[in-house]
Amino acid sequence: MALTDQELIKRAEEAKEKAYAPYSSFKVGAAVETESGMIYTGCNVENSSFGLSMCAERVAIFKAVSEGQTKFKKIAVVANTKGPVSPCGACRQVMSEFGNFEVILANDDGEIAHTTVDLLLPGAFDLRRDGN
Ligand code: THU
Repeated sequence: MALTDQELIKRAEEAKEKAYAPYSSFKVGAAVETESGMIYTGCNVENSSFGLSMCAERVAIFKAVSEGQTKFKKIAVVANTKGPVSPCGACRQVMSEFGNFEVILANDDGEIAHTTVDLLLPGAFDLRRDGN
């Protein structure tokens, strides 16, 4: 059965607790629900070589894709931000690779924003459309 938005946010919050963020101390959690009803979670994973750090959204999406799941219903992202967390540009591009699904943005204060991949990244690069 599909999770409610609140349940998906809760899964993202639980994933956030696993964040490995010794350099920024900024913990992020994500939970993506597939069309088939599977849930994959992710947290940010930092590295001494800062550029190698990976965002929570991409960890969750890559976990799903590596299990053969590429059709997404929605993703929830949570962090301790002033308003609902705003996903970085790289994560927006990675989301857009898998279509226009629902995005639920939240923070530790319980503030929630509902948006979509297309609204977060209008005009995304798409090699399948723009390539030759
Ligand atoms: N981070 C995410 O996990 N997702 C985002 O959308 C923005 C940034 C992480 C990366 C890094 O570990 C920390 O937040 C600070 O940039």
